[in-house]
Amino acid sequence: MHDKEQTLLLQALLYEQGHPRRTQHILKVYALARLLGEEEGLTMEEQRVLNAAAILHDIPIRYCKLHCQGDAGQENQRRAAPKLVEAFLTQAGYPPEDIPPVLELVLRHHDYSAPHGGLLGLLIEADLIVNSYETDPPLGQLETWEKLFQSQAGRQLFAACRAGLESQTSQT
Ligand SMILES: [Fe+2]
Repeated sequence: MHDKEQTLLLQALLYEQGHPRRTQHILKVYALARLLGEEEGLTMEEQRVLNAAAILHDIPIRYCKLHCQGDAGQENQRRAAPKLVEAFLTQAGYPPEDIPPVLELVLRHHDYSAPHGGLLGLLIEADLIVNSYETDPPLGQLETWEKLFQSQAGRQLFAACRAGLESQTSQT
């Protein structure tokens, strides 16, 4: 079976040209977003949008590094996102009505200030768990992020992540 989600994942991974961190980041956030969505009982449409957003959530980074003098800051990413998201989704065969909700998630996934919940909350939770493992942030940062978690599976996974990182720190 070769559905549009597989096509999108393949195209996003190939776009990264093997960049080790970004390639693995896509795979991890995608897997966790799927899991969190399924645990929350999303509809098929919601899950399709969440999964696509998880695959594409950091897609502007490479583009910005290549075309914005290496500056992949938030502002440049926001400027580059609409065209990239539309192109990737269209090429993979997604219906046009999926483009606005996926783009909104991509654009807002670093906005931790607004109240969350829904698909954005799940994408943020998946990204924060992966970012925590990848960057091993200080305890204060983990405590701040922990407050953002609302889904049950997300809270459990983040608590496990935090416990694992803390015990690793205490052993070194
Ligand atoms: Fe990310």
